[in-house]
Amino acid sequence: MKEVLKIEHLSKAYLTQGNRMRILEDLNLTVVEREFLCILGPSGCGKSTLLRCIAGFEDFEGTMICNGKTVKGPSTERIMVFQDYNQLFPWKSVAENLEYPLKIKGMRDKHERRAVTEEYLSKVGLAEYRDFYPHELSGGMKQRVAIAKALALKPEIILMDEPFAALDAITRNRLQAELQRIFTEEKITVIFVTHNIQEALTLGTRVILMDSDGAVRIDKINPLEKPVKPSSPGYGELWDLYSQGLEGRFPAD
Ligand SMILES: Nc1ncnc2c1ncn2[C@@H]1O[C@H](COP(=O)(O)OP(=O)(O)OP(=O)(O)O)[C@@H](O)[C@H]1O
Ligand SMILES: [Mg+2]
Repeated sequence: MKEVLKIEHLSKAYLTQGNRMRILEDLNLTVVEREFLCILGPSGCGKSTLLRCIAGFEDFEGTMICNGKTVKGPSTERIMVFQDYNQLFPWKSVAENLEYPLKIKGMRDKHERRAVTEEYLSKVGLAEYRDFYPHELSGGMKQRVAIAKALALKPEIILMDEPFAALDAITRNRLQAELQRIFTEEKITVIFVTHNIQEALTLGTRVILMDSDGAVRIDKINPLEKPVKPSSPGYGELWDLYSQGLEGRFPAD
């Protein structure tokens, strides 16, 4: 399996009010092609910080290689989808929100940009909304556009920071199923941060759990067969394992 991302000895500290706060220390993580890696962890443990380092938004100590290249800053090889509904350009239509980054990436042919945009809007079920503006969409639709925008760029890795956390349960389930289908069709590699164990077990091919110090404490390939349901054999045991981990209790302790 091709290694898409290799992180070695990653440490990250923030300077706040003159104090150096260590968030991540000596973290090692390898993500292979076609992996859907879900990251669970208590609030404040450094999940978003880790994603921001991978996205190239933060400096850090250690080495990070994506697709054979050292990560030095943001790139269309590593695209982030945020929890926030307002990650689209409000003054651009849905279609323009997809076309613009394609142009920036270097896709010069207008017709090609339009065709790629149509293809990915269809994939997320929003082809009819191409001329709408973000304020005319629901939260779930905005997240779909953000996902379509990320997919259209064909990044090496898509980073998702609790993209469904602010949605109601029904919309969330629907978008989980949609993302699952797209993951199967598109052969993408995803790192997905969530607080929700059900979401991690449903989507993840591998689920890791960080402790409150930002250390990886559980790192398991998800053995549950897709589509995962709470009634899937083994679901309950895994749910308990991660749930106890979120409370700071680990099997080896
Ligand atoms: N820009 C910043 N400057 C200083 N400290 C920061 C900054 N961003 C995050 N932190 C601190 O780093 C720690 C980890 O934050 P982070 O946002 O990575 O946590 P998280 O695991 O994503 O939490 P949550 O689950 O609540 O989203 C927190 O203690 C936070 O206060
Ligand atoms: Mg976070």
